[in-house]
Order: sequence, then structure tokens, then C-alpha cells
Amino acid sequence: MMEPRPPAQAGDAHAEPPLLRAGGETREGGGPGSDAPVVVEVDDVHKQYHTSGHVVHALRGVSLSIRRGTFAAIMGASGSGKSTLLHLLGGLTPATRGRIVIEGHDLARMSDRQRTLFRRRRMGVIFQDYNLLSTLTAAENVALPHLVDGNAARRSAERVGELLALVHLSHRAEHRPDAMSGGEQQRVAIARALLNDPAIVLADEPTGNLDSTQSFEIWRLMQRVAHEQGKTIVMVTHEAAGAAFADRVIVIKDGVAVGELHPKGSGDAALVATGYQELAG
Ligand SMILES: Nc1ncnc2c1ncn2[C@@H]1O[C@H](COP(=O)(O)OP(=O)(O)O)[C@@H](O)[C@H]1O
Ligand SMILES: [Mg+2]
Repeated sequence: MMEPRPPAQAGDAHAEPPLLRAGGETREGGGPGSDAPVVVEVDDVHKQYHTSGHVVHALRGVSLSIRRGTFAAIMGASGSGKSTLLHLLGGLTPATRGRIVIEGHDLARMSDRQRTLFRRRRMGVIFQDYNLLSTLTAAENVALPHLVDGNAARRSAERVGELLALVHLSHRAEHRPDAMSGGEQQRVAIARALLNDPAIVLADEPTGNLDSTQSFEIWRLMQRVAHEQGKTIVMVTHEAAGAAFADRVIVIKDGVAVGELHPKGSGDAALVATGYQELAG
């Protein structure tokens, strides 16, 4: 079912990517700077979980590539394999088959130690429940990755100030999480994810606990971070309203990428909802 193709070249600007190929392979087609280098390569990736005597085939041959500065959304029903794909991109679990290449590095060819360092330095992660430390202020939470690395404390203060300004939270720098709204906490988490200037930011349902006003702030912020900071953002969501702020929406059904939508950051939720129904409904 998968259409074979030669391995994609990082920065291959001349390949004419169709919106969707046979077998559900999707390639970047919409985002800004479509000659930007490819940062994320997923090549015929399968993932099987073996649990108590039976096998769950969570991903069944997903191929896609995402360029620098693209805000990409992954949409699909519950159980379709979205979180699994994000875990694989983050190198948290290995693919059963296929290849995942981030910034030219094949994750499977790294040692555990190299993968941990790579994740820490080149990837930012955002969680549905923010994962802030409740005893630390907003500024301290943002600085946390530097404390873990141990050697960057002197650079931290200025960088943390810039990032809090970026997420419009300079006035909350000394607040602890319980004195902030959910949306503010998630903006702190986004600032923290950016501290080490990562290549990619992975977000699994980042607005799952937020009301719609706060959700829109997060989606617009992620769009701004992708386009203005040149970050590649991969956001898992089931909300058409959020996916519509992405440049590309990759639709997953039963472990297969069944197609792709290009709202191009328009925020046109109806367009995404209709397109999604056609692909996955
Ligand atoms: N650690 C795991 N062990 C066994 N099965 C899993 C595990 N994680 C996910 N699955 C299964 O894989 C499928 C895809 O799950 P997941 O990637 O979490 O989907 P989604 O995020 O789209 O809801 C589901 O059937 C789920 O039950
Ligand atoms: Mg999930």
C-alpha cells in the first residue's frame, strides 16, 4: 500500500510535494518558507505495543516531513495514534519499523545518553497539564532547563526575561503557578520549552484544560513562535478551531496518515472541520 520513495534530503527545496500521496504519505506543502530545510522526517514508521499477550498496532506506516518554521497540527480521533507519533518524534519510545530523523539525526542511531541530550537541547515539550513546579515562580519555572544543565545559570536571567515578554507574562514573573490562570501557566510552559532555543516543539493537546478564550491565545502564540522564531511546532489536537491556526493539518486515522489540510494559519475552523470529516469521518 505504501508508495516507495527515495529517502528525502534535508533541505531538498526542489521536490514538488503533492498534498497527499497514495498510501497516506504527506509532505509539506503549505507553510511559510516552503524552501526552508526539512527538520522532521518520518519514514514509513510503524509502532506496535505488546501488552499481556496481544499486539496493538498503533501506527501503520506513517511518512511525513515538516520544514523549519512550520506550525503543524496532528488531528485524529481518540486512539488513532497521535500521542504515539509525538512520543516517537520525541525519541521517548522507539519505532518498531521505519525511520525518524530530526535535524538530520536518525533517533534510532543515537545512544540513550545522546538521545537524552539531544531531546534536552533541541526539543521543547508542552503538556496538557503544564507540568510546572508549584513551589517555583514563573521565572524560575522558565529557567528550570538551565538549572538541569547546570552551566548556563548566568545566561538565564536575561533569556528568561525575553521569553516571559514573548509570552506576554513579564508582569507575572514572580507569581507561582497557583496564582496564575491555566492559560498563563501554559504560556509559562511554552516559554520554558523555548529556553534552550530548540529546533522543534512538541505539544500534546496543549489546550485540553483551557477555556476557548485561553485556547485561542495559546494557538496564536504557537503560530507566532513558529513563524517569528522559526520553530517547527507539532501540536496534537482534536479541535478544528486550534488546528486551523496551523499551517498544515495532518489527519491520522487508525494509525495511518490519511490526508492533509492546509488552513495556512487562517483560523478557519469550518474549513478544517469539513476537511477533517471528509478524510476521517
Ligand atoms: N504504552 C502503550 N501500551 C499499549 N498500548 C498503547 C500504549 N500507548 C498507546 N497504546 C494504544 O495505541 C493506540 C494509539 O494510542 P495513542 O497514540 O495514545 O492515541 P491518541 O493519542 O490518538 O488517542 C491505542 O489503541 C492505545 O490504546
Ligand atoms: Mg493522545
